[in-house]
Amino acid sequence: MRYLTAGESHGEALVGIVEGMPAGVPVTPADIDEHLSRRWLGYGRGGRAKVERDQVRVLGGIRFSHTMGSPVALLLPNAAYEKDRAGWPETMAVMGDGDGVERVTLPRPGHADLVGAQKYGFDRPPHGPDVRPVIDRSSARETAMRVACCSVARQMLRALGIEVGSHVVRLGEVGLDDPAGWAEDRDALLAEGGARALYEKADQSEVRMLGDALSERAIEHIKAAKKAGDTLGGVYEVVATGVPVGLGSYAQGDRRLDGRLAQAILSIQAQKAVEVGDGWLAGRRPGSEVHDPITRDGDRWGRESNHAGGVEGGISNGQPLVVRGTMKPIPTLIKPLGTADLATGEAQPTRYERSDVTSVPAASTVAEATVAWEIAVALLERYGGDTFGALRERVEADRERGF
Ligand SMILES: Cc1cc2nc3c(=O)[nH]c(=O)nc-3n(C[C@H](O)[C@H](O)[C@H](O)COP(=O)(O)O)c2cc1C
Repeated sequence: MRYLTAGESHGEALVGIVEGMPAGVPVTPADIDEHLSRRWLGYGRGGRAKVERDQVRVLGGIRFSHTMGSPVALLLPNAAYEKDRAGWPETMAVMGDGDGVERVTLPRPGHADLVGAQKYGFDRPPHGPDVRPVIDRSSARETAMRVACCSVARQMLRALGIEVGSHVVRLGEVGLDDPAGWAEDRDALLAEGGARALYEKADQSEVRMLGDALSERAIEHIKAAKKAGDTLGGVYEVVATGVPVGLGSYAQGDRRLDGRLAQAILSIQAQKAVEVGDGWLAGRRPGSEVHDPITRDGDRWGRESNHAGGVEGGISNGQPLVVRGTMKPIPTLIKPLGTADLATGEAQPTRYERSDVTSVPAASTVAEATVAWEIAVALLERYGGDTFGALRERVEADRERGF
């Protein structure tokens, strides 16, 4: 199973193709839109988040609310282009030579602007200097289509009782690095309704944090950063429940589930670190506090704790999968940073364009989507199935065996 996205941030639309889904998975556009609207969440979001809401159009692969086994084709029009705001149809015109279109010649530090222009030749004639093509594809607008594609696979997981959720655990200086600080609240939600209960609770907070006091402190922190013309990064945790034993493998490095989950997180713009289970803390603690004792209850295997985050030997062990991602602060700051003009080589301060103070809450929902995708791929590798019915029978047979 694979997906591809295409399209520029201010072009006509984003498109996506999901290939390899079994036939018979229940999916509707509303299922996809649910997660698209969650991507807009977050205090401190400005610019596009305020003016744009996504609604997916399904162009193929789904009939009578179920997949057909054929590629699922998705379309997300870009509102800015459609409403002809700021002349985007001319700026992003497919034809012509762009005569009269303003060029962007100040690359922003912390973005793909300069390296992208150097790599694709937009730093020099005949197609430059102009970093617009780099900005428009490297921007996180692309994650809207990624969320849409991954949501199709997520519906397959949901129909098998597998849920993926997330919450933000740190925003800049506010939050806790030790999972012990939030494990109790998180586990109570997981016991109540799996990872879906976790994300639904987190969605009630403007910063997707568990606990009103923490959310309020984070919002104050965001307000202060905004006042100082600065931006904030943070850390979020993604949890998957109902994941069967046996996804991934130790047999080859690139089949390890933990490695693949790390790639799922780091494939998202601006994500800079990943932890699985106890993560960094596991490097500081003795083995007796890190490894999870094995239990046997009737015909069920279990673990006394879940420091491993649901993966041992690169294979899911039936415990909740737990991964955390760290997002760097947004590189577009009101406070200017140093750069140089691509056309003249002259040193210049960056120019501010309306942007978020922090996008960590939004990034956490994107990470949920990409983690769900990896789980779906690993599930299909283990169980296969051209039809959802065949897949479900195999998964349920394993569950009955005590997996
Ligand atoms: C959900 C999300 C929203 C983002 N919003 C913005 C934004 O509003 N302004 C901005 O400058 N960068 C934003 N970014 C960050 C840039 O996409 C990112 O910094 C850029 O891709 C370079 O980071 P990289 O070097 O890790 O790819 C956002 C990232 C994500 C994941």
